[in-house]
Amino acid sequence: MSERHHVLDVPATIWLTGATSGIGNHLAEALLRDGHHLIASGRRREPLEQLASRFPHQVTVAPADTTDAHDLTRLKETFEAQAPVQMAILNAGTCEYLDVRHFSAEIVEKNMTTNFTGSVRSVEAVLPALREARQQDLPAHLVIVSSSAWWFPFGRAEGYGASKAALTYFAQSLRADLALEGIKVTVVSPGFVKTPLTERNDFPMPFLIQPNDAADRILKGLKKGATEIDFPKRFTLTLKLLGALPQRLVDAMAARMTRKSREDNP
Ligand SMILES: NC(=O)c1ccc[n+]([C@@H]2O[C@H](COP(=O)([O-])OP(=O)(O)OC[C@H]3O[C@@H](n4cnc5c(N)ncnc54)[C@H](OP(=O)(O)O)[C@@H]3O)[C@@H](O)[C@H]2O)c1
Repeated sequence: MSERHHVLDVPATIWLTGATSGIGNHLAEALLRDGHHLIASGRRREPLEQLASRFPHQVTVAPADTTDAHDLTRLKETFEAQAPVQMAILNAGTCEYLDVRHFSAEIVEKNMTTNFTGSVRSVEAVLPALREARQQDLPAHLVIVSSSAWWFPFGRAEGYGASKAALTYFAQSLRADLALEGIKVTVVSPGFVKTPLTERNDFPMPFLIQPNDAADRILKGLKKGATEIDFPKRFTLTLKLLGALPQRLVDAMAARMTRKSREDNP
């Protein structure tokens, strides 16, 4: 089967989750401006309808909770009707912080359910439609929005970081398996982006970027055919360098940051 071009070279059908807000909403706009057809998901219908009214005939409004089996079954029917789907961008996510003084496994589970299990279930739903694209000799691409947060053991991020670490491993392992079928897998690992998800953060967010900038960087990476996209480099390179230090130094740094944050926000 041919691998001559990328999905984004010509108008294609793309499934995007988390299209109602933040990075996903800006990605949706940019993809629609480029002439693609979007199957746009999120739990809230209204922002999806707004996209559809601004880009008539280009949007299939497909509200869904990606942790809900019934919603995913409905989505699967949509994919079957619109197959081939050439790209799926699994961007839906949440960030719930743990307060270790009131340890709650539920907080960790919420992160895992939305960010990890929801994404895995989304893969199950869309894979047949991506395979259909390959059957028709078209390129097919699965894009998984993870995070660079788990590269450093930030306090309170036990649940969020664990869910994104699991998601990244899952995606990279899946990349090995799907390579046999010519389905590309890209992992996106953003730093801090100004969205409703980070609005609640009460700590300094170094190198914070705007969501339209994040969307541009993701699309630029995808158009170049990158399998790993991380940004902004000032942040992700710093994390990579810190990660190369001995663990006890990393631990001391992380504990100091947590202590400072606790003093600032008792
Ligand atoms: N902002 C950052 O600094 C940052 C950094 C690294 C990675 N990320 C990742 O980037 C992705 C987008 O985040 P964002 O910052 O743009 O956050 P956001 O503005 O809060 O958007 C999150 C999106 O996910 C959707 N969503 C959440 N739970 C869902 C569920 N159960 N089913 C379906 N959709 C669901 C939301 O839609 P509904 O509410 O309509 O369901 C919303 O569209 C996330 O995966 C996040 O972890 C963000």
